[in-house]
Amino acid sequence: MQEWHFQDKDTQFYRFAELDLSPEPSAGVRDPEELLEALAFLAQLGPDALLTMALRKPPAQRTEDELELIFEELLHIKAVAYLSSSVKRELASVVLFESHARAGTVLFSQGDKGTSWYILWKGSVNVVTHGKGLVTTLHEGDDFGQLALVNDAPRAATIILREDSCHFLRVDKHDFNRILKDVEANTIRLKEHGKVVLVLEKNSGLGGHVAVAGSSRYSVMAGTPEKILEHLLEAMRLDATFYDPMDTLLGDFLLTYSLFMPMAQLCRALLHHFQAEPSEGSEQEKATYALSKRQKILRLVGQWGLLYGRLLQAEPSARALLQSLSEAVSQDPRLCGLLWDQLQDRRRHRALENGSGNMSPQIKVRSPGHWFASHEEATLGCSSAIMAGDRVPYDIYRPDHSCLTVMLPVNASARDVLVSLAPRLSQDGDLVLVKVNSAGERVGLPMDAIGVYTSLGLNERLFVVNVQELGSLTPHPEQLGPTAGSWETLELLSSKDLASQLTDHDWTLFSSVHQVELLYHVLGPQKFPGATTANLERIMRRFNELQYWVSTELCLCGDVARRAQLLRKFIKLAAHLKEQKNLNSFFAVMFGLSNTAVSRLAKTWERLPHKVRKLHAVLERMLDPSWNHRVYRLAVAKLSPPIFPFLPLLLKDLTFIHEGNRTLSENLINFEKMRMMAKAVRILHRCRSHFHTPVSPLRSRSPHRLEDPKALRASTCSEQSLSIRSPTSASVYLQHLRVIDNQKELLRLSRDLES
Ligand code: CMP
Repeated sequence: MQEWHFQDKDTQFYRFAELDLSPEPSAGVRDPEELLEALAFLAQLGPDALLTMALRKPPAQRTEDELELIFEELLHIKAVAYLSSSVKRELASVVLFESHARAGTVLFSQGDKGTSWYILWKGSVNVVTHGKGLVTTLHEGDDFGQLALVNDAPRAATIILREDSCHFLRVDKHDFNRILKDVEANTIRLKEHGKVVLVLEKNSGLGGHVAVAGSSRYSVMAGTPEKILEHLLEAMRLDATFYDPMDTLLGDFLLTYSLFMPMAQLCRALLHHFQAEPSEGSEQEKATYALSKRQKILRLVGQWGLLYGRLLQAEPSARALLQSLSEAVSQDPRLCGLLWDQLQDRRRHRALENGSGNMSPQIKVRSPGHWFASHEEATLGCSSAIMAGDRVPYDIYRPDHSCLTVMLPVNASARDVLVSLAPRLSQDGDLVLVKVNSAGERVGLPMDAIGVYTSLGLNERLFVVNVQELGSLTPHPEQLGPTAGSWETLELLSSKDLASQLTDHDWTLFSSVHQVELLYHVLGPQKFPGATTANLERIMRRFNELQYWVSTELCLCGDVARRAQLLRKFIKLAAHLKEQKNLNSFFAVMFGLSNTAVSRLAKTWERLPHKVRKLHAVLERMLDPSWNHRVYRLAVAKLSPPIFPFLPLLLKDLTFIHEGNRTLSENLINFEKMRMMAKAVRILHRCRSHFHTPVSPLRSRSPHRLEDPKALRASTCSEQSLSIRSPTSASVYLQHLRVIDNQKELLRLSRDLES
């Protein structure tokens, strides 16, 4: 074997063994004279020619020296700078040379299957997308084509040569997957017109949008709303679901879009994508691409409808979009067939869930009605959910405690309330709406405050007053709570019956809360004028009601022996609630027991049997807040649904995510934050993925009729006197609890009992 050494411009030595200089790679040059001549020629051309030649060789035939040469070249290429040396060495053994002579050549088209990853070695290319045209130009050292390979998606753009004689380094799919797909995290920033529009990060294994455990995919980290949607439409599969735990992009988007993209903008963008005709490629390619895009849009919209149900139906822009899509679909038999399959799937799913096995008659595809049956509504039967537009009676008090009732939508503003009251009030100066709690504290409501009635706290009332009357406002006697306890009734009810009836009632409330209500609540409901958080507020009020019910009953029970019996009953109630996986009410009862007005009643606690005190201590462990409520979180992770989780903790988690992460960074939506928010609210989906079977078949699934103003806020009916031991009486009792929510008053009562 002969070896030659020569120096290039940068004083680097290259060593060649048995160079193959003929145009045909197979035919070798053996004459030393010829060889020297050829080498002199090559030396003039510089190392690029040698490198090109090495790259042109089939990888299996490359010599050690050639591999070294390619490796050294890779050291200077921006696109692979982040890779380790060992990965670059592996690349050197697979990378191929590709060149095209003419500007305008299409390297590949949007929608094509991805077969290779490219590094632009010489020249420049245009990146063109359907509907937008030229979005950016890539230059020497840039790479492209990795998206389709990593995400196993069609090409997101068409690549067209911008100048003659462009050279590429190409890595084919199977080598790319073997060497690069799972290597260290890297970030790609897609630009359009000079601005970054999408930031993707490869994450191996665990988080985000992972198709196969152990493999990695690009997750959206940030982007403009339109580009995130465009990327979703490119990357999503035709069988994507919003609840797929392995690929959460669709679900993340659908759960959080309202935080960064108004509904009207989303509807416009979807219709635009649906109607857009591809600009590049043959007629056949264009038709295939357009059909696939439309199918994906129908899938996305179908899942959107399944997730939001009636909430979507209430939105005019969504209704208009669905009408347009329905009309377009009815004219295209291929799309019609696809939609029909989706409907059949959905019906089969429901028929199985309600155990009937019967499918309802065919729905006309032309009507958009079939889009609006939410998965959660179907599985949970939450017909009792309060909607933003529901008209409900508002009880508004005057300073003399007389009450006026007006019918208004749930989302009426304080101004709307005042306007509707005006004809019934003699106008003495400007009127204001004031929220008053049981301690007599007052908060004036701004005119544009919405949902003022359903967001009232426990024992809070709305008053309408003029400025002069403000000082004389006192709480309505009903707000102060009861003066006598209901131990007689409680004595008749077993703690197990109480727990079962509480859980049944709680589940009807829980079922009416949509996952997105949690997001609206944390971000501030006023930012979402068309939405309501009334269902969540109803649960939070119930949580407080249960806490104060436990404290109130104990503080109103004058006889110490009876009080100890009651205390025992509440501890057992907590144990049953935990067993029934009703953790929200479990926490409420336990918080009621740990209220200082109760915990200070030493003589009462002393009377508890040792066994019960031990039970209480065991239950208390679940309340331990250390390590971010580790005990509770581990316990919940082990439970199987149905579970009613401790909602205040979920709201706290969401608040942390919201306050600890910016929604916008460098003018892009921080989608990582959206993913974290979606992950947190998705807990509700898991908890409710199985039916809670009510204990009492007699119980209505509707928790409160909307026409009953007191029931809508909380239960404030007069005390029930129950004489029979029956689930129905327990249920009636529990739906009409009366409580003292003034901590000072509870402490005063407690001191009177045991000084
Ligand atoms: P891929 O989808 O495999 O094929 C087209 C490539 O164009 C894509 O990967 C990216 O690497 C590259 N690209 C660069 N800018 C953009 C952009 N703004 N939108 C889509 N693709 C882009």
